[in-house]
Amino acid sequence: MINNIQFNDRGKLRHFLAIEGLSKELLVHILDTAQSFIHPDHQTIKKIPLLRGKAVMNLFFEPSTRTRTTFEIAAKRLSADVINFNISASSSSKGESLTDMLHNLEAMFCDMFVVRHAASGAAHFIAEHISPHVHVVNAGDGCHEHPTQAMLDALTIRQHKGDFSPLKVAIVGDILHSRVARSLIHALNILGANEVRVIAPKTLIPKDAEQLGVQVHHNLRQGIKNVDVIVMLRLQRERMQSAALLPSAHEFFQTYGLTEDILKFAHPNAIVMHPGPINRGVEIASSVADGKKSVILQQVSNGIAVRMAVMALAMGVPLEESGE
Ligand code: NCD
Repeated sequence: MINNIQFNDRGKLRHFLAIEGLSKELLVHILDTAQSFIHPDHQTIKKIPLLRGKAVMNLFFEPSTRTRTTFEIAAKRLSADVINFNISASSSSKGESLTDMLHNLEAMFCDMFVVRHAASGAAHFIAEHISPHVHVVNAGDGCHEHPTQAMLDALTIRQHKGDFSPLKVAIVGDILHSRVARSLIHALNILGANEVRVIAPKTLIPKDAEQLGVQVHHNLRQGIKNVDVIVMLRLQRERMQSAALLPSAHEFFQTYGLTEDILKFAHPNAIVMHPGPINRGVEIASSVADGKKSVILQQVSNGIAVRMAVMALAMGVPLEESGE
């Protein structure tokens, strides 16, 4: 079971590896903690000494802009020391095994690894092979999970919509290769959303989609009818084994691209989200990405508060010290 390892003997969060199997109470606690780090004017994030003296190491085996940077800012806002480990320049390219590399990094008194890796299960593997005092946060593992992204998406939705229970949410695009979709589907179901729909061509829907607790649609207009939240996803070409999975970018936009005209099928107060990086004119029109309903940049900002909350909770520091 992937989640047992996430908790210590006292049932407290130790690693944050996957959303699947977590409790509603824990997800709400993470959202509340993240929200408490945001100044009420929503403009700034507090700097607090919760992780003073701790060292957080960013281990990114895959490229990243938003996720790596917001983890770094989050750790600094908690007063931790942050080390961005440059994997491509490391001795893994000289044949060192991952476990040897980890033990060496641990010997440098690291308290937390933030891990992004192309292999599903990589963060879990690392969590199984490190010393008991070290914590692991999954920053995206293959096509499996991206749990902090799901939490920042949930926080953004809650800021706009409040209660999850009446909400209809549509996730559109390359569901098959998306760890963002998988984590968000679990989070929305745990938080009690009314309906989660996935909308994509048959070739980009996972076989087990319905078991994840979603409605599957292949028609964008029908799928987004009356939804309160639309989450657009990029085509993850780097994970596609075969070019046959896809029509051309132009054709994809014609059928699954979110334009202002298509957006009219959703609820009038719908919000538009995207984890980034966005591909304008492929899955989303520029006028929608930059339009009034878009909360895409708010998602990026919320990534800082959510990652602060997850790091502080996994490290087990008493949150009262934050002055809340
Ligand atoms: C996502 C990822 O890396 O899974 N991006 C992100 O974390 N903001 C989605 C993507 O790459 O399309």
